[in-house]
Amino acid sequence: MEEVIRIKGQKLLNGTVQISGSKNLCVALIPASILARDVVVIHNIPPISDVYNLIEILETLDICVQYHKDTLIIDSSNVKYRDLDMTAMERLRASYYFYSVLLGMYKKLEAKSIGGCRLGERPIDLHIKAFEQLGAKFEIKNNSYYFDGSNLHSGHIVFDKISVGATINAVLLAIQIKGKTIIENAAIEPEITELNKFLIKMGASIEGLGTSTLIIRGGKDLHGTEFYNIPDRIEVGTYALIGAATAKELTIKNVIKEHIQSLLDLFDLLEVNYEIQNKSELIVRKSTIKKGIIVLTAPYPGFPTDLQQPLTSFLSVNEGTSVIIESIYTNRFAHIKELNEMGANINVTNMNIIIHGVKELKGLVVSGKDLRGAASLVLAGLMAKGETVVRGLEYINRGYENMIKKLRKIHANIELGLEDFGEN
Ligand code: UD1
Repeated sequence: MEEVIRIKGQKLLNGTVQISGSKNLCVALIPASILARDVVVIHNIPPISDVYNLIEILETLDICVQYHKDTLIIDSSNVKYRDLDMTAMERLRASYYFYSVLLGMYKKLEAKSIGGCRLGERPIDLHIKAFEQLGAKFEIKNNSYYFDGSNLHSGHIVFDKISVGATINAVLLAIQIKGKTIIENAAIEPEITELNKFLIKMGASIEGLGTSTLIIRGGKDLHGTEFYNIPDRIEVGTYALIGAATAKELTIKNVIKEHIQSLLDLFDLLEVNYEIQNKSELIVRKSTIKKGIIVLTAPYPGFPTDLQQPLTSFLSVNEGTSVIIESIYTNRFAHIKELNEMGANINVTNMNIIIHGVKELKGLVVSGKDLRGAASLVLAGLMAKGETVVRGLEYINRGYENMIKKLRKIHANIELGLEDFGEN
């Protein structure tokens, strides 16, 4: 039997959703906290499976972790080196932040190759090149990565492509190495800026926050600190699209407006009925979309690739033809086959998603194959006529805190169910 999400669609939603802490920031804050070799307290950590997997990795390194409500207390005073060969490493791609942390601390590292959602080619060459610029040596043997950090030195890293993960890994290694390191063409996602603020609170010296050039004076003594995780801008975007598709009035609380500006610009173009209230509340109302648009996914502050899939569902029911150019991932399209089976009319050529709007979607059994793809099918199920069964609950649980509970609170007809697909 498989746990699935069962949705009866076309119900008018109404109410308030509280946004949880950022997944993509907390998956960096947690490994980075080890550098303090002290007690670090982080608030607003969502209870998602990525967090539990990271806690499992911390515990194998003899780090003491307490997780009460949404506060994580990480005591790494007794941290010990271990080869990172556990399955928890394979469950999320962001486990690679342990590479830079442990390589800097212990000057060596052995790790199994990493996991995460299957989004086509997801190489780590930029991470490796950055480590090499800082004196590390790297080889792959028998599906494991070996890093030698016996000759680490400060350096000058110029990324030839913008990467969130590689920027973070470069920062986490550079702050541990004496001397000045310059990182150019760094990603400028809010999660990177916040991580840098956290590291500065721990005693690191980093200049250029929020810009594409970071200057790090490494080798400073780091210490424990307390930090608040920011709201998850992708969760905000997902609920904003749910609101625009299905809600009489949806109030989304705990929003940082600047972090979702690219989505709001799009809402303006599409004439979505929304407003910002009390600075941190986004109110969205169901809106009929009468025209098509062209959207390009791009590194921040561009439109996030993580919202491409929910946006595809949203645009599938309207009166125009839209194009989303997916410029970040070569294979973030698994949701489209499912949407087409639900009655959408979407073609993919190269990395262009061409969405011919249809009148309505119809409920069906569909399968999410990755985190945001599964969320986009939940949105499609809420929009569709009849019952939709969404498989791939484990992906939703990686990144959305209590999605079903939050949707039920705003009167969605959604529940967990058990289905036997006769596959095992
Ligand atoms: C992060 C986010 C993810 C988001 C993505 C892009 C986290 C935990 N995840 O992922 O939700 O979708 O940013 O905004 O923060 N690339 C290379 N070589 C590398 C690394 C990346 O070619 O060594 C490519 C990737 O294949 C992709 C592009 O660079 O085409 C951007 O990827 P990157 O910014 O690194 O994504 P992640 O950090 O993995």
